[in-house]
Amino acid sequence: MTALFTPFTLKDITLRNRIAVPPMCQYSAVDGAVTDWHLPHYAGMARGGAGLVIVEATAVSPEGRITPGCTGLWNDTQAEGMAAIAGAIRAAGSVPGIQIGHAGRKASANLPWEGDDHIPNDAPGGWQTISPSAIAFGGGLPKVPTEMSLADIERVKADFVAAAIRARDAGFEWLELHFAHGYLAQSFFSIHANTRTDAYGRDAEARGRFLVETLQAVRAVWPERLPLTARFGVIEYDGRDEETLGEAIALVKRFKADGLDFVNVSMGFSTIEARVPWSDGFMAPIAQRIRTETGLPVATAWGMDKPEIATAAVDGGQMDLVMVGRGHLADPHYPFRLARDLGIPKSSSLLPDPYAYWLARYPGPQNGDPVD
Ligand SMILES: Cc1cc2nc3c(=O)[nH]c(=O)nc-3n(C[C@H](O)[C@H](O)[C@H](O)COP(=O)(O)O)c2cc1C
Repeated sequence: MTALFTPFTLKDITLRNRIAVPPMCQYSAVDGAVTDWHLPHYAGMARGGAGLVIVEATAVSPEGRITPGCTGLWNDTQAEGMAAIAGAIRAAGSVPGIQIGHAGRKASANLPWEGDDHIPNDAPGGWQTISPSAIAFGGGLPKVPTEMSLADIERVKADFVAAAIRARDAGFEWLELHFAHGYLAQSFFSIHANTRTDAYGRDAEARGRFLVETLQAVRAVWPERLPLTARFGVIEYDGRDEETLGEAIALVKRFKADGLDFVNVSMGFSTIEARVPWSDGFMAPIAQRIRTETGLPVATAWGMDKPEIATAAVDGGQMDLVMVGRGHLADPHYPFRLARDLGIPKSSSLLPDPYAYWLARYPGPQNGDPVD
């Protein structure tokens, strides 16, 4: 029997199984505040049986949003909406998590279905982006960011801390720092985005400094009993993968010493030159390497949803949780369906009673039954 449907405990938090919903932007917020879209979306997936639901990349400041439709946690109105979502996820038996981040030079973009490209600074929704160095990402994101001053660095770290406090007070029990995907923190770590010559960019250790200091500052306010995690791009697929992986592993060991509890292993997405070897479960061996070499529990996403891939990843010791993103968009009850298909006993207990009774326990009308 697969261990996919066994509980996973980290600090004082126990997930009912090892299936997690990774953060997925909904691009449906207004001024960083959630709308009528968000609560049913997140509650729906939590009701489907996932052990953990991580709310989308939520910006720590207005200029840290990827698009004008991204959520934020820089004011109390936003926190109020998020508290309702955390409560709905918990009420459905899942653990509420949230990813906080800053989009750096990839910020100020149009919604994916409106082009996904940079909005000019003088157009509505356009703003000047910031990054460790004044280097554009390129392609559809050509705006040249302003190189961050030391004061900017301090301000953004403080923004991370303030957002973490709001997430904590809103009832989230799993915090994921967004250190991936070419956004601000990843840009500090990446040679493709960081050519600074000061303490934040000279060498691999200095390129990790912003991430380490942000983690340390957040750890100081995030309760010790709750998991503090990071999604970290440990590989760029840019032809220097061993070097990047080596630097990333050294940095994760540093994170661990500073109180990181878990890594959501991902990619750097820092250069348009990357050649990603897309295929089902292709990140699993990379996740396993981070797990083995750092001793931290890990997960990864990216095509993990096929039953044989999800079960092998956990049963084979590659990772502690599997992240299933688009599989949950296609079917919010993905965990229940998978458990039923795999013949897991009591799979209906993954659903709330108002669904479970009719879908799995109710035997259906029998011939001759009275109609009442
Ligand atoms: C609609 C959508 C929004 C996403 N938003 C985020 C995000 O907010 N933060 C993040 O780290 N990754 C984001 N991702 C990446 C997913 O977390 C996940 O890694 C990706 O979908 C691959 O997993 P899958 O093959 O199970 O879908 C997003 C993906 C999708 C499809």
